[in-house]
Amino acid sequence: MERIKFAIDRARQQAAASAANAPSGAAPASLASAAAGRHESTPTSDEILPLDRAHLERYRIVALDQDNPYRREFDLLRTQVLQKMQENGWRTIAVTSPSVQSGKTMIAANLALSIAHHPSRTALLVDFDLRRPCVAASLGLPPQRVSLNEVLAGTARLSDAILRVGIPRFQTLLTHRKIAGAAEMLASDKVSSIIASLRDDHPDRIVIFDLPPVAAVDDVIAVLPKVDCVLLVVASGASSRREIEESQRHLGRANILGTVINKVSDKLPQNDYY
Ligand SMILES: Nc1ncnc2c1ncn2[C@@H]1O[C@H](COP(=O)(O)OP(=O)(O)O)[C@@H](O)[C@H]1O
Ligand SMILES: [Mg+2]
Repeated sequence: MERIKFAIDRARQQAAASAANAPSGAAPASLASAAAGRHESTPTSDEILPLDRAHLERYRIVALDQDNPYRREFDLLRTQVLQKMQENGWRTIAVTSPSVQSGKTMIAANLALSIAHHPSRTALLVDFDLRRPCVAASLGLPPQRVSLNEVLAGTARLSDAILRVGIPRFQTLLTHRKIAGAAEMLASDKVSSIIASLRDDHPDRIVIFDLPPVAAVDDVIAVLPKVDCVLLVVASGASSRREIEESQRHLGRANILGTVINKVSDKLPQNDYY
């Protein structure tokens, strides 16, 4: 896998500065082939659905695997993300990119799993790419009886659609079928109250929303005012300067958590003692 690089905006300097200044007690911060042919399942609320590590690896989701050399990069990303979120009291992150196929879902899933390994955090990965949902396929999860589709249709409760998967503090809210009128849905009061409930019901939870690209659709612009911050994924060499500038313009006043440069083609360090 090509490497990722995280360019969190002056995070370290800001961390040092705000540690010095902060008052004590500051706010802590298309289901694809993978599932084809499988039957809908209905886990009980405390059941943890198993994840298939070989499947995850094919989708470059490596943060579950202690021995994978790329896992360390996601743990580093997690540490920087959690640090900046804690400093600002943020708990919801939108993951987006200037253009398609940048690795948003791969980064969002790895980041969520890495956060879930943190002893005092729960991570919830939400598939908000309503036109092209693919978190379920990436995680290799079969169709569930209850998903975000049913919650948005008003036929199921939000709490029944949240799945526990893989490891104890990792959760996901899947979208199984694309949703017509995605931008209008994401701009709706219903989605505002879902986001508020995901954020506020569990103070130790970090909620990661996997979104479509900024430049392609207005879905992202509809969600941005409802989330705390944005993680931008840029695939090396894949986005034109115009696309990147356009994205920056669309992101407007959103809190930019940082930028992940994905698909950087240099090698992992050899002989790296640590
Ligand atoms: N660092 C990487 N190196 C090589 N391939 C990658 C990398 N990151 C993502 N990919 C591949 O690029 C494709 C798009 O990734 P995905 O996460 O689905 O992007 P997006 O959600 O932005 O559309 C997938 O086939 C994925 O496996
Ligand atoms: Mg995606």
